[in-house]
Amino acid sequence: MNTSTGPGATRRRIILDCDPGRDDAIAIATALASSAEIELAGITAVAGNVPLEITWRNARFLCELCGYPDIPVHAGADRPLVREPVTAVRHHGESGLEGVEVEMPAGPIETRRAVGFIADTLRASRDQEVTLVAVGPLTNLALVVREHPDLMPKVREIVVMGGASRAGGNVTPAAEFNVYADPHAAAIVFDCGRPLTVHGLDVTHQVLAAPRHAERLAAGGGEPARRLAPLLHPAAGSRGPRFGPERSPIHDPCTIAWLLRPELFATESVPVTVETEGVHTMGSTVVDWWGVTGREPNARWVTEADGEAVLDLVIERIARLRNP
Ligand code: RIB
Ligand code: CA
Repeated sequence: MNTSTGPGATRRRIILDCDPGRDDAIAIATALASSAEIELAGITAVAGNVPLEITWRNARFLCELCGYPDIPVHAGADRPLVREPVTAVRHHGESGLEGVEVEMPAGPIETRRAVGFIADTLRASRDQEVTLVAVGPLTNLALVVREHPDLMPKVREIVVMGGASRAGGNVTPAAEFNVYADPHAAAIVFDCGRPLTVHGLDVTHQVLAAPRHAERLAAGGGEPARRLAPLLHPAAGSRGPRFGPERSPIHDPCTIAWLLRPELFATESVPVTVETEGVHTMGSTVVDWWGVTGREPNARWVTEADGEAVLDLVIERIARLRNP
C-alpha cells in the first residue's frame, strides 16, 4: 500500500519512549522480538496512561518478561510541560497492564535520566542514525528538542503514535490522548523539523484486535505470548459502542509494524499543527489536507493500514519470544 520510501530493509536503531500501558506493552514485545530488523538501544518511560513510577516499572518488567533484562530502561518526565496531568487508568487499569500478572522487576532502579540517555545516545551516533519512536505523551522528546537542538541532525526519523484528524478524538471530540496529555510538548516535537511519521487514530482505528487474535497469541507462542495475550482483549473500561464489546484498536504497535513492513500502510505528507489552547480543542492535531494555509508539510500522516496483516505480524513476532 505504501509506495513512498518507508523505513525499508536496513536495520533500525531506535529508542522507544512510552507510557506502558497495555498497547505500549504489545509494541515493546514486538520490537524486542524483531531484533533482526530493530536494534532497541533503550526504552524511556514517561507519565501518561498511569503515573511515571508505574510506567517505568512496567517497561522494566516487560523487558524481563520477554527475555531481555539488559535493555536500558530510564524514567523521564513525571508530568507534562505546562498543563495539569491526566491519566487513562480507565483503559489500562491501576497497574497499567490490566489483564497481565505484573511482577516487580528484578532489574536496577534507574535514575530519572531519560532525556540524558536519549541525548547521550544521539551524541554517540552518526547523523540520521537514530529513530525515536514515541507512543506516549511527547514530554521526554520535547525536552530533548528544547535542551539539545544541536543533536537533532542525529535523528533519522521520529515515529509518533498520537493525534487524530478524520477519526475524531478519544479523550475529547477533538483530541487523542497522547497529544491531549501534553499538547505543548507535541507542538514542540511536531515543529522540530526532523522527518516525522504520525500514526494517529485515523489509522490505528483500522487495526482492531478481536478475541481470535488474543487466542492465537496465547496458543501460538511461549510464556511471554501467553502472558501478554490478554492485552489484545479490550480493558473493562474500554468496552463500548465505538468498536463493539469485544474489539479494541491496538494503537502503539502500529509504529513498530511501520518500521518492519511499511508496505502495510499508506501515508500522505501534510502540514499539521497542534492546538495548545482552546476550551474545546486543546490537544487537537489540525491537518491541512487541502493546503489552504500554504504551510510546508511537516509530517507523513499515516492514513491507511492493512489491519489484519498488522495483527498477523504482531502475533507472529511476539510468538517468537521465549523467557529462558
Ligand atoms: O490514544 C491512544 C494512546 O494513548 C496510546 O498510546 C495509548 O497507550 C495511550 O497512551
Ligand atoms: Ca501509549
